[in-house]
Amino acid sequence: MKPENPMCHATDEGIELFEQLHEKFQNRSDDNYARQLAEDTPLRLIGSGDYRAVYLDENGDLLNEKDACVVKIHKGTNVNENLNEISNWTKLPKEVTEKFIPITDWGENSKWLVMPYITGEPTKKQLFELEKHFLENGYDAQDIKKENVSIFQGDPIMNDYGGVFRKVDFESVSLKERIELKKWGLDL
Ligand SMILES: Nc1ncnc2c1ncn2[C@@H]1O[C@H](COP(=O)(O)OP(=O)(O)O)[C@@H](O)[C@H]1O
Ligand SMILES: [Mg+2]
Repeated sequence: MKPENPMCHATDEGIELFEQLHEKFQNRSDDNYARQLAEDTPLRLIGSGDYRAVYLDENGDLLNEKDACVVKIHKGTNVNENLNEISNWTKLPKEVTEKFIPITDWGENSKWLVMPYITGEPTKKQLFELEKHFLENGYDAQDIKKENVSIFQGDPIMNDYGGVFRKVDFESVSLKERIELKKWGLDL
């Protein structure tokens, strides 16, 4: 379920533009192309991963707030990362999602999604603590790296959680996994 009136949501003008940009990507993933595509629009490219281009709205007509929200647009026809991210956001337990930047809006087709703009670079220790937090709550997060984590009020928070969050079944963890988990100080 989408929140009723979130701070960051796509306006009608935004929705139209995001759909158009998605069409134009046609699986091209280079940053220059992603920047060029938005050249004549108020969108500014602020990040780009393997799958999605991330833009800030410089005037607030597209995402309802100026410079405060981002839209993530899939560069290819496949929209798996947005689908996973929305599914993780809506289905994982609160103890896990409290470490995610909230998704506040998304397209029906999952070609785009919206969240607040949060920057900052985590330390190695913060990345370790984040991974440990997920494990303690029963999930093995497989894509924790500095590009996917921002800092909110001094604490690490994931900006990309479109990867797999595998449930750790404490009853059936293998000996090998137990040894691995011991390294995190978790006694299972
Ligand atoms: N909410 C956000 N606020 C600020 N920067 C972001 C946000 N979401 C993503 N980014 C930046 O954009 C980059 C690409 O986004 P990401 O979701 O990681 O795409 P991909 O799934 O392709 O890896 C991130 O590494 C990060 O630097
Ligand atoms: Mg990423």
